[in-house]
Amino acid sequence: MRQTPDPIHWNDLRELRDLFLADLPLERPYWTSLRQMSDYDRTLGERIGWKWDTVIKELKLRGWSPPSRVLTDFGCGTGIAARRMLAAFPGAFDRLVLMDHSAIATGFARNKIQEEFTGIPVELKNPSETLEGTILISHVLTELTETAQAGLAERLQSTDAVVWVEPGTVRCGKALVQQREILRERFTMVAPCPHQGECGLLLPENEAHWCHHFAPAPSSAHQDPFWGHFRRELNLDIGPVAYSFLVADKTAAGDGGLSHLIGKPLRAPKFLRVLSCQQEDIAELVASRRSGDIYRPLKQPASPAVYRFERRKNRITGGQWLGGDE
Ligand SMILES: C[S@@+](CC[C@H](N)C(=O)[O-])C[C@H]1O[C@@H](n2cnc3c(N)ncnc32)[C@H](O)[C@@H]1O
Repeated sequence: MRQTPDPIHWNDLRELRDLFLADLPLERPYWTSLRQMSDYDRTLGERIGWKWDTVIKELKLRGWSPPSRVLTDFGCGTGIAARRMLAAFPGAFDRLVLMDHSAIATGFARNKIQEEFTGIPVELKNPSETLEGTILISHVLTELTETAQAGLAERLQSTDAVVWVEPGTVRCGKALVQQREILRERFTMVAPCPHQGECGLLLPENEAHWCHHFAPAPSSAHQDPFWGHFRRELNLDIGPVAYSFLVADKTAAGDGGLSHLIGKPLRAPKFLRVLSCQQEDIAELVASRRSGDIYRPLKQPASPAVYRFERRKNRITGGQWLGGDE
């Protein structure tokens, strides 16, 4: 017989959401129970999972796979990032390390992972210990003080790869660009960046922009009464959800010739305008029906927003969406 899931404690979840939205460093652990963690995992955590799904889809389209057989989830919470990676790259890891300053969190994440992925050894480590292998960071940045952020950037230098996903806010988008500039000294930028040079968003003329993207919710969520309830209770959209991300790897080659869109396209009746990042510039480009088949994914807009454009000045004259061959 199918078990009915436990009811969600929406008031507690609203308090947690307010804590996150306050956008202040949280120096002490705030997880109080396994029940609270389970409620988070089925709602806010699952929504973060949709961002990871889109990031992983982009990484696969760009031909990336994890360079190391050790996976570390820093600030793991319920372990949503680790679970999405383990599911996406089966057999790629010999060991998983979970780090969080909350023992309730590491305990919850370990149990969940051992239920879902039998056979992978899971190690719990103090967050101040050395970071090993491919590091996942998900929605941790805003909880760290500036000193802790600087310390984390320094500690990441000795790792093999970093896959970092944060909310798509101005603050997080800009903070990840700062982290990129530090990591760029030793790592190849895999995504979203289509080049290895200084980030074009640091130029004064791009001050108003920040690096962010949108992840769709699975189509089933839009029909599911549970997510309708979520929307009403938490006053949060189901999707697309905004995120910022950064993937850096010491062994990757880096691919040329791609463009990554930033934010959402601006639609006009007969054309649309996109902010596009590529090796040569960050530019507002215009597409219309005359751009050919590429107009459709641009208009949709398709996700992940990675393209090979043919351009005449600021007009898109043709090209290909990277996910077009799926
Ligand atoms: C918003 S939750 C995100 C959890 C999970 N990564 C996710 O994406 O769902 C932030 C997590 O970072 C942890 N955290 C915050 N500051 C930390 C620190 N200084 N060291 C280790 N973990 C920390 C918190 O305990 C919490 O589990």
